[in-house]
Amino acid sequence: MVQIAVMGYGVVGSGVVEVLMKNANSISHKAGKRIEIRRILDLRSFPESPLADRFTDNFEDIVNDPEIQIVVETIGGLKPAYDFVKRCLLAGKSVVTSNKELVAAKGDELLAIARERNLNFLFEASVGGGIPILRPLDQCLAANEVYEIAGILNGTTNFVLTKMIREGLPFDRALELAQRLGYAERNPSDDIDGHDACRKICILASLAFGKHVYPEQVHTEGIGLLTLDDVKYASEWGGVIKLIGRARKREDGRLECIVAPMILSRESQLAEVNDVFNGILVRGDAIGDVVFYGQGAGKLPTASAVVADIIDEVKHIGARKFLSWEPGENGYVADYRGYSGSVMLRLKCKDVQAVHRSIENMLGACSRVCVAQAPPDELALVTPAVEERLIDEALASLSDAALVSRLRIANL
Ligand code: HSE
Repeated sequence: MVQIAVMGYGVVGSGVVEVLMKNANSISHKAGKRIEIRRILDLRSFPESPLADRFTDNFEDIVNDPEIQIVVETIGGLKPAYDFVKRCLLAGKSVVTSNKELVAAKGDELLAIARERNLNFLFEASVGGGIPILRPLDQCLAANEVYEIAGILNGTTNFVLTKMIREGLPFDRALELAQRLGYAERNPSDDIDGHDACRKICILASLAFGKHVYPEQVHTEGIGLLTLDDVKYASEWGGVIKLIGRARKREDGRLECIVAPMILSRESQLAEVNDVFNGILVRGDAIGDVVFYGQGAGKLPTASAVVADIIDEVKHIGARKFLSWEPGENGYVADYRGYSGSVMLRLKCKDVQAVHRSIENMLGACSRVCVAQAPPDELALVTPAVEERLIDEALASLSDAALVSRLRIANL
């Protein structure tokens, strides 16, 4: 028998306990041992729970209990999760977490502690919810030089965008619905402003390319400024808007890494990833393109990934499993202003022909996108693939046009 503790009995933590209890027999069979939940850490008490006697509000009951070999962290955020996880590892306990903020900020340090002590630190649920992505990336695709990863990594924003695109639903109502369904982060700006997707692309990029990418190194934009007009123009061009996290290896060894709403062609494999689903595209030299698809958020899908990690750790007590990368460094992620790509620019201007010509003189031939009943002072152009800083310079030089929106076009 293996004794475990669960820290944090919120949406994910309670889902983990539910799955462990519901599927106890098959899980024991797969793990080769019975898994006993010895402690559950939460500030609240749950007298109705069949495990009411296991609850504690004192972390010391877990870290000082020599019987507990595996600790599951589903508290979320950095405080107190970072301190708790570090202390558990230092006390010789393997850890499973769903906490992407923790892994994105401190993964290199925690992996090193686990490595030194022959423990495991697993976090499959931190990216893509229930979608198996970290193990496949690390193990099944190990033969490849992975050169690009891009994905729809946040279920809440994908749900909101899907409602805007398909039902013309206002942003606020779609967000409220996502929150009610338990998809959103406690602080909705983590979803809407792209921070959650940023943490996930950091984890993917760290694992795929072997060196830690920290969230502050990644240029991040959210979906908070998108309007139904943006949706309409994207559709006229032949695409849909998705919040994309993307990491690419450059020939100079540095990475391009960015999170932003982007227009995808309807032909893209990611264009049909809707609602709370996530889709992650991995490009490798031997395999070509592979897409991972599934529920990226929600209680039981996320618990599914956490419990699979618990089973793996039970099977590997005293043996290192996998997952590792080196600390990052300044300059490893290149400045996004040097990234090249096409952009859809929407501008308000009196003389649309003159502004169109000026932009083409600076950036090269652009195609114009027109929607029905657009006001005469509206200009939407798709630029050729150019570095972002050239677009900045072109826009700064226009004195008679106001930028309404700027959306990257992703060739995914
Ligand atoms: N808020 C996150 C999302 C939860 O919507 O994707 C899963 O990480």
